[in-house]
Amino acid sequence: MAKFMRDLVEPDRVHRAVYTSNEVFEREIENIFEKIWIYCGHESQIPDSGDFHTFDIGRQPMIMVRKNDGGIAVLHNRCPHRGVQLCASHGGNVGGGFVCPYHAWSFHLDGRIRGMPLPRGYEGTALTRDNPATSMQQAARMSVYRGFIFASLAEDGETLEEFLGEAKVAIDNLCDRSPVGEVEIVPTCHRLIQQSNWKFFMENQMDGVHAPVTHQAAALAGKRAENEIRAQGGVPPQHYHLLSAVASPFQLFDAIRTVGYPHGHGIMQAYMDLRSDDPDTAAYIADMEAAYGAEKAREYLGREVHHALIYPYLSIQPVAQQLRCLRPISAEKTLSEIWHFRLKGVSPAINRRAMWYFNVINSPATIVNADDLENWTRAQRGLASRGHYDWVSVHRNFGRDVVEGDNISSDTGTSESYIRNQFRAWVGYMGDVAVEEIS
Ligand code: FES
Ligand SMILES: [Fe+2]
Repeated sequence: MAKFMRDLVEPDRVHRAVYTSNEVFEREIENIFEKIWIYCGHESQIPDSGDFHTFDIGRQPMIMVRKNDGGIAVLHNRCPHRGVQLCASHGGNVGGGFVCPYHAWSFHLDGRIRGMPLPRGYEGTALTRDNPATSMQQAARMSVYRGFIFASLAEDGETLEEFLGEAKVAIDNLCDRSPVGEVEIVPTCHRLIQQSNWKFFMENQMDGVHAPVTHQAAALAGKRAENEIRAQGGVPPQHYHLLSAVASPFQLFDAIRTVGYPHGHGIMQAYMDLRSDDPDTAAYIADMEAAYGAEKAREYLGREVHHALIYPYLSIQPVAQQLRCLRPISAEKTLSEIWHFRLKGVSPAINRRAMWYFNVINSPATIVNADDLENWTRAQRGLASRGHYDWVSVHRNFGRDVVEGDNISSDTGTSESYIRNQFRAWVGYMGDVAVEEIS
């Protein structure tokens, strides 16, 4: 009988309950998702006063809104009167303030109470206007890093920058690829429900072994199309190459370095060159050099970050200008938001490549993402089985992890080092929590 969550994690294997148990999941929501810094959205989603965007932090429905003074508030999406959600849609504009659709209590954009019908009905009760319980509640903490808005429901704790640590290179690398150092979000995302625990997604993103296997069919289809176009004397559009490159040989992934940071964050260091040698690219590089100087431009464009994970819920691909955000729903259901960004100050041709990547690789409609989703669904179903034993392997290259200060890295992209690093963080959050149901 396991007594604590830490008993579910061993150095080279983890108990299947971390993926399947509802009890484990509920404790994760309390001890991780409703405490740490959670990505809300990007400033460019709410440019004007009254613009809002809704999302969940753990179990809590939230709103981020642009205030009259240009600042941003992150509020609980709940009317203080009887609890009705004030915003029902994913986004929009509430004008000068929020008005509840149930009994018309109204609120300023920072959540303060503005008015309520029939105020005399509250005379002599505890619910006077100066009672903070009449106002919408703000998230305990909110912080913005280079336009990326985060909130935490915990009053105390480390700052956002402390939480991000070295993994903030994910955001820096994305923004620094713009000649003006800024990005804007494309204000539409794919939302899909993954029929699997959130960990499968996080553990898959730097898995170099699966790519040539799982995505072989997709890559072959891309390669075949490229060859046919070439045989007819044409030049294949770059989006076919995005597909065909997914299933590069094992050796290529073996040569890639991964670095695991504290908090379970990590990067995969392959440099992914989306820039073919064409006039659009030449103009873009010239703009970058004019903005930053040749040396800095080379540094910004040459950073070796193919994939960055901010554990336990964010996946950023800076070169491809992609961001995926998990909003876990249950032990076996995970909402995934798939976004992409435009670099400010570049030609549409450069940003079109990010849209291709979004549509060809990360969209749930593609033959790439669909194959990953199938794996994770099957993994969730497979782990319902006790036919083998109760443990899930993370043995690959175990004993060969390279420890450098607080980081745990691997010289091969096929190592499961980064998964072991994620569980190091998981035990940090969850280890001392008692667990009842696991036998
Ligand atoms: S529930 Fe919002 S005003 Fe009554
Ligand atoms: Fe994949």
